[in-house]
Amino acid sequence: MLVSAKEMLTKAKAGKYAVGQFNINNLEWTKAILLTAQECNSPVILGVSEGAAKYMCGFNTVAGMVNGMLKTLNITVPVALHLDHGSYDAALQAMEDGFSSVMFDGSHYGIEENIEKTKEIIRIANEKGISVEAEVGAIGGEEDGVIGGGEVADPDECKMIADLGVTMLAAGIGNIHGVYPENWQGLNFEVLAKIQEKTGTMPLVLHGGTGIPAEMVKKAITLGVSKVNVNTECQLAFAAATRKYIEDGKDQQGKGFDPRKLLAPGVEAIKETVKEKMELFGSVGKA
Ligand code: 13P
Repeated sequence: MLVSAKEMLTKAKAGKYAVGQFNINNLEWTKAILLTAQECNSPVILGVSEGAAKYMCGFNTVAGMVNGMLKTLNITVPVALHLDHGSYDAALQAMEDGFSSVMFDGSHYGIEENIEKTKEIIRIANEKGISVEAEVGAIGGEEDGVIGGGEVADPDECKMIADLGVTMLAAGIGNIHGVYPENWQGLNFEVLAKIQEKTGTMPLVLHGGTGIPAEMVKKAITLGVSKVNVNTECQLAFAAATRKYIEDGKDQQGKGFDPRKLLAPGVEAIKETVKEKMELFGSVGKA
């Protein structure tokens, strides 16, 4: 059964580790992530952007697929199905269609409108036992069509949004979606420390997990990050493994063109990436 992200993140914050949010794109992705979480005895959050949900035929289809897998694959670790960077309308729809967690990305609204809309999402989520992530200070780069300016969050605004009763808070601290540019300045730990000071026990979320050096991720976890989002890294690993299979001519040998064979190396690559991240985040054995 899907669970809200609240309990797993409260435990992570107290235990000074982080739970990975891995974005899903199709059945193979979902299966690879769920099996790895089970093997690692780790809690996990499946992230679904609005674009990915559309690609997979809507929130309803995604929830049906994930619930089916939990049962058939005997997944017993805590799993949350989370809307990533949702608009207001998408957050309402995802809650209606069986998601157990939603992110309402109101970072492009002014603070007042962000607060009003966040409050309404929280009200509905509370009725259904669904966790809510809010964002302050846009995360840089592009996430499935959602473009952020990369501004650093204001710790006082973080406190204001945290006090509304969100479950977790994403704060921009120089992190960017996708691959980091050569001249990237790194995470702003000074601001992160201030946000953590102001928001106390609130689990903080680090977006743009792809390509952040391991030492920086670990340091961010010591400063209150309890959820790290990873998307691009799984996509790159999947693409590289699939490319190799085809470049090696394996699709032309025997029944190598069978999608169950052709996609298998990519699935293995996702599993390896997810396992590596769970080890880095410290969530292995924490289910
Ligand atoms: P990356 O694609 O950079 O790993 O970011 C993922 C993310 O933050 C999803 O919200």
